[in-house]
Amino acid sequence: MRAIVVYESIYGNTHTVADHIAAGLRPTFDVTVVPVGEATRELVSEADLLVVGGPTHAHGMTRRGTRKSGVDAGLKSDDLSVDPDAEGLGLRDWLRPIEVRAGMAAAAFDTRFDMLSAFTGRASRGIARRLRHHHCHLAMPPESFLVDKKQHLLASEAARATEWGATLAAVVSAEMPTPAG
Ligand SMILES: Cc1cc2nc3c(=O)[nH]c(=O)nc-3n(C[C@H](O)[C@H](O)[C@H](O)COP(=O)(O)O)c2cc1C
Repeated sequence: MRAIVVYESIYGNTHTVADHIAAGLRPTFDVTVVPVGEATRELVSEADLLVVGGPTHAHGMTRRGTRKSGVDAGLKSDDLSVDPDAEGLGLRDWLRPIEVRAGMAAAAFDTRFDMLSAFTGRASRGIARRLRHHHCHLAMPPESFLVDKKQHLLASEAARATEWGATLAAVVSAEMPTPAG
């Protein structure tokens, strides 16, 4: 079985979370992790499971303007590094025209500040809504992984992402029809 993990990331945290989710999926799935700009229609069509995640900006998914201000702030900062694919396509634009099989298993995640989601917003809600709009089957509720005020991933989150990936793999494989015979 194949899974594709598609991520958008400005400072690398969502990229790190995507890699750890992939590690959790890997015992069960043949996993490809790609930045959103490289997530081609072919890669998506070959997958049995689509996992999509991005950073929370202005309470939701990024927009061109928020990505630009994030990249500009990162380039000026001594503390933050800008992910190699940060200036490419955003998830909002990638999700609009995607073509997926109706009923395809999917899951959404985000990164956001370590505060109540009522204050921060959650990009994963918008991602999940768009995946449902394309008739994907959301195998797990959307999940957030947290960064501190300096936009560094909390120490707990890498392991939690691996666990979440492993749980997702177990849920999706239990739902897959067993081959006849
Ligand atoms: C322009 C901008 C707007 C942001 N707005 C929010 C927000 O509304 N809520 C929130 O929790 N975090 C917000 N953040 C923090 C991001 O969620 C954080 O930078 C992101 O999770 C880090 O992921 P990345 O390293 O993959 O870019 C914002 C960051 C930027 C650069």
